[in-house]
Amino acid sequence: MLTNDQLSQWDRENFFHPSTHLAQHARGETPTRVITGGEGCHITDRDGNRLLDAFAGLYCVNVGYGRPQIAEAIAEQAKELAYYHAYVGHGTEASITLSKMVLDRAPSHMSKVYFGLSGSDANETNIKLVWYYNNIRGLPQKKKIISRWRGYHGSGLMTGSLTGLELFHKKFDLPLAQVIHTEAPYYYRRPDLTMSEADFVAHCAAELEALIEREGADTIAAFIGEPVLGTGGIVPPPAGYWQAIQPILEKHDILLIADEVVTGFGRLGSMFGSDHYGLKPDLITIAKGLTSAYAPLSGSIVGDRMWKVLEQGTDENGPIGHGWTYSAHPIGAAAGVANLKLIDELGLVQNASDVGAHLRAAMRDALADHPNVGEIRGEGMLAAIEFVADRDSRTFFDPSQKVGYSLAAALLAKGVIARAMPQGDILGFAPPLCLTKVEAEEIASKTAQAVRETLG
Ligand SMILES: Cc1ncc(COP(=O)(O)O)c(C=O)c1O
Repeated sequence: MLTNDQLSQWDRENFFHPSTHLAQHARGETPTRVITGGEGCHITDRDGNRLLDAFAGLYCVNVGYGRPQIAEAIAEQAKELAYYHAYVGHGTEASITLSKMVLDRAPSHMSKVYFGLSGSDANETNIKLVWYYNNIRGLPQKKKIISRWRGYHGSGLMTGSLTGLELFHKKFDLPLAQVIHTEAPYYYRRPDLTMSEADFVAHCAAELEALIEREGADTIAAFIGEPVLGTGGIVPPPAGYWQAIQPILEKHDILLIADEVVTGFGRLGSMFGSDHYGLKPDLITIAKGLTSAYAPLSGSIVGDRMWKVLEQGTDENGPIGHGWTYSAHPIGAAAGVANLKLIDELGLVQNASDVGAHLRAAMRDALADHPNVGEIRGEGMLAAIEFVADRDSRTFFDPSQKVGYSLAAALLAKGVIARAMPQGDILGFAPPLCLTKVEAEEIASKTAQAVRETLG
């Protein structure tokens, strides 16, 4: 067994970590955190700390850690057949079964599912399918994609462009020219504080109409959005938002891609966010909760009207020129089957709704009166607390104060992991869907202690 010092040294010398301050880490100014185990909503690290993971990894370990049913399904699959590809009609019992399980749970107008490995690659697939679709329809100019500021859709070239967060663009020459951004449905950050929620929805719709007018509807192929903004701040849409947006897209023949990488499979207290908010998407992106991250697997669920055109395209042009070596990887598929069964058996979709509401109520009891708490919000098993310097005037802290990061660090010192969201002083919570009410109360009370220690 390696000593802690040895691991830290190898880590600094060899490991390029994602989303990390590279220079500070290489210099040893930020710690190496080695995670050694997990059970239920808790993880343990090499120093013996047991932490309540109120962000489920990266909002992905939906069934919680240490589930033997999934581990055994993975082991069985690895022993029987660790790999075979899915090209030209190949499959395994696991991948075929999982495709049926996904479609059984998805909105009824969805037709087929393509399996990838990550949320990013699933969105790359989606954009290629959208372009292919319009080429087959004889509309080669109709290619631009509308995304929202603060949306998160991955960090590849196209998906990093779709992502509407500065950190993911700066110095990477992104966004690419085909991607255009519109207003985030973020009522708390509305441009004019006197706007009602309905006014703000009308404003978002008008901004979208104006963008389509400026660019020309005949150049725009699709609109992508998360049912609830995730990495951009964990922000449920204002009431009536999707009902205002969808008719505009329909009017201009613009496809809707629902990015359900976070919201799919129960996070909002519904199986899909699309059903939760009455969306009728042409494509749905899934990942995280599909396997609860026990193995990497993602998917693009294709709706009826696109599927018909994709079939027509291959009749005209031959097999679809798209695929990954690891598409529908048997180990990921086996994990997915076991995971979706477990979500049903444990009633986790309902638990997300019940315990998530309890978590936000406990947070409000503990913190709603605090002068630096601007808003406590969420939906299902998602919650966020947004901090401000002055709440009456809604004055934000200067980003250089790093208030959100200090709060997350203070909370971590108490044994609870929350996420300092990247744009704003926002603590994000997305615990495993199996969270208990007692654990929810612990998260709320320790958060309140951390806030009082940090902000007074
Ligand atoms: C809504 C959404 N879409 C896409 C992605 C990208 O997924 P991945 O990190 O698996 O590439 C994420 C990741 O957090 C996400 O939250």
